[in-house]
Amino acid sequence: NNYCIIMAGGVGSRFWPFSRNNRPKQFLDFFGTGRSLLQLTFDRINHLVPAENIIIVSNIIYKDLILEQLPKIKADQVLLEPNRRNTAPCIAYAINRIKAMTDKANIIVAPSDHLILKETDFLDTIKTGLDFVDKNDCILTLGIKPSRPETGYGYIQISEGETNLRKVKTFTEKPNAELAQVFYETGEFFWNSGIFLWNLQTIVKAFDELLPEVANKFNAGEKFYNTANEQAFIDEMYASCPNISIDYGIMEKAKDVHVLCSDFGWTDLGTWGSLYEMSPKDENENVALKCKTAFYESEGNIVVLPPEKLAVIQDLKGYIVAESDNVLLICKLEEEQRIRQFVNDMNVTF
Ligand code: GDD
Ligand code: MG
Repeated sequence: NNYCIIMAGGVGSRFWPFSRNNRPKQFLDFFGTGRSLLQLTFDRINHLVPAENIIIVSNIIYKDLILEQLPKIKADQVLLEPNRRNTAPCIAYAINRIKAMTDKANIIVAPSDHLILKETDFLDTIKTGLDFVDKNDCILTLGIKPSRPETGYGYIQISEGETNLRKVKTFTEKPNAELAQVFYETGEFFWNSGIFLWNLQTIVKAFDELLPEVANKFNAGEKFYNTANEQAFIDEMYASCPNISIDYGIMEKAKDVHVLCSDFGWTDLGTWGSLYEMSPKDENENVALKCKTAFYESEGNIVVLPPEKLAVIQDLKGYIVAESDNVLLICKLEEEQRIRQFVNDMNVTF
């Protein structure tokens, strides 16, 4: 009885102007394969979980987009949030829905904005994980070997052991740069991939014990889940629900957490820099996606323009050149964290 919760309600503002409020990055096709990140996530999971057991949780404004992109998903499998409250409420909502349908389930929680290059290895890892949570009442996360002291991820300190399944000593969400550097150098830490596995009773108990301020809100609507009154209850309650991620709310506090140290070509496509890192480059380390680009005396740029454009770039080093829906961004790659601020400053719906 396997279920999957796909979290698809993020905004992805650091990917502006490609990622827009009405079409955040999970709905975009980055590489011209014809499938968006959400569709790729669904396809991957659907190898192990039947379509009717896959639940998508997202903001109400993306409902039509989701149903259009995932024709195998029925409208009642898309859980609609009226407000953004981060991932803990998103997961709490989905587990309450699952609880109303069954009393025994093994659940995979998957973000919708990752790229996974080695699909067979990914599926083998998920199978191992499902088998583990079927037999053990503990939280399991998939860990990735860090390749840089990134501050945007959760860090997992692993216990000693012989296999790639280890008990977690500590979990630290988004450490500061200094701490991330220490974690990275010790070699004792893995990145949290944000992909979690657990059985239904374990996660219900974890919410009740560790995050009662969220759990109580959702538990109050027990009789409404999977009925015609569910949406009305959610719409009424959601705004008053705390805004907190699963990482801060549950993972940092939980005692019995395990990690499956994995290697399946994982990338979190969080920023232009991460897209640049993982894209094929020419001999001068330039990346051009989707459009024809001629580079002269230029290096280390990423250019993403609509397919009908032709670009000529001369003497440009280390820049993002991106256009989408009539918005053009030219910004130094190393200044990309300021994109959020640019979007704010313009004072328009991005
Ligand atoms: N439904 C819903 N509602 N989904 C959401 C919401 C929300 O309010 N907020 C975020 N999501 C979705 C995003 O679309 C994404 O697929 C996933 O949840 C994770 O959210 P992010 O906002 O991208 O989290 P993060 O990248 O900062 O951190 C998480 O992922 C890292 C790895 O990529 C954490 O789990 C870190 O520990 C982890 O290292
Ligand atoms: Mg992310």
